[in-house]
Amino acid sequence: MKNVTITGWGRCIPQPVVTNDDLATVIDTSDEWITSRSGIKERHISHVSNSEMAALAGRRAVAAAGLQATDIDYIIVATCTPDRPIPATAAYVQAKIGAVRAAVADINAGCTGFLYGLSMAHGLIATSMANRVLLIGSEQISSYLNLEERSTAVLFGDGAGAAIVEASNDESGIKSMALGADGSGAQYLTTSGLGTEQIGTGAPRAIIMDGAEIFKGAVVRMGDGIVAAAKDAGWELDEIDLVIPHQANIRIIDAVRRRIKVDESKMFINIHKYGNTSAATIPIALAEAVDEGRVAPGSRLIFTAFGAGVTWGAVAFQWGDRTEPISTTDDELPEPTRTGLEILLARQEALNR
Ligand code: UT7
Repeated sequence: MKNVTITGWGRCIPQPVVTNDDLATVIDTSDEWITSRSGIKERHISHVSNSEMAALAGRRAVAAAGLQATDIDYIIVATCTPDRPIPATAAYVQAKIGAVRAAVADINAGCTGFLYGLSMAHGLIATSMANRVLLIGSEQISSYLNLEERSTAVLFGDGAGAAIVEASNDESGIKSMALGADGSGAQYLTTSGLGTEQIGTGAPRAIIMDGAEIFKGAVVRMGDGIVAAAKDAGWELDEIDLVIPHQANIRIIDAVRRRIKVDESKMFINIHKYGNTSAATIPIALAEAVDEGRVAPGSRLIFTAFGAGVTWGAVAFQWGDRTEPISTTDDELPEPTRTGLEILLARQEALNR
């Protein structure tokens, strides 16, 4: 079987920022509550569509791999916040970046979407169905928030991360992978007011979450996932260089770390800056970790996530030789004309109308 690796990485963080203090001006909450319960200090709220963020992250990943968009055979966008139900967000991305040869599809595995996408990219490449897959995790989850649901409105943010997945010519790449799901837990993290079942019911739009159930499941599944992925890869836990966990709550990440007894310095954390960006957290964190020098040639990484479905997964991944992008792009998102809070408030006004 071919080794399958990541040769390009990129992220797109929309400029508008909403701090906890900003939220506290419109929601009955406080910086103290949000920080102590979740570790989040601020999040970014997108002034552009999900596909626009995804496309820019994708362009950056294509450049980092030293490719042209026309080299891409397949675009997979992991998202639960598509621009529209029809067509796939990946179709918009294909047109925006000019990847005219690429097949396109979205997948929705909640916050575990990027890891499910990685398993699909692995399958496509290992069976020679595709040579180069652009895998993107991208979310504009702020569009689903209802500021009147304070228990979820303070937790999420927008952003996109991308990876070029292709066959490896060395030992680098995916070393083990385990995914799982329990559909009987679907009600623990869902939406109201969105989707075919809900259209016309008058249900207000919101993310509905049983925080305690999700919290418990995340700690057990991500913790056990790390142990299993390392074992399947033939690594001792102390041989892991960096764990890149889904960023939903700093307390979940800390509890996972204590469960597996890994040093604090080996857990990558950026939740304070972005909140929970669902399927985008792992590719954003990966791109940031590489750009910040936290990933070295040959680094032994573990990606792990838990999310809606419920779904979970863990991947042991050995980084290749290159930690610098081959090329970069000057492309940027347009300058926003409104603040993040103005964007949220305009959406809320439309919701309440
Ligand atoms: O990516 C996967 C999806 N998400 C997750 O993995 C998140 C998993 N769960 C969590 O992160 C945590 O359960 C939360 C952060 C959601 C909640 O933390 P918690 O420590 O479990 O708090 P809680 O739900 O027990 O709420 C405690 C109190 C409640 O008040 P009472 O009933 O004790 O008086 C809530 O009404 O906090 C109140 N509360 C808030 N207070 C201020 C809920 N939201 C807020 C808020 N600001 N935003």
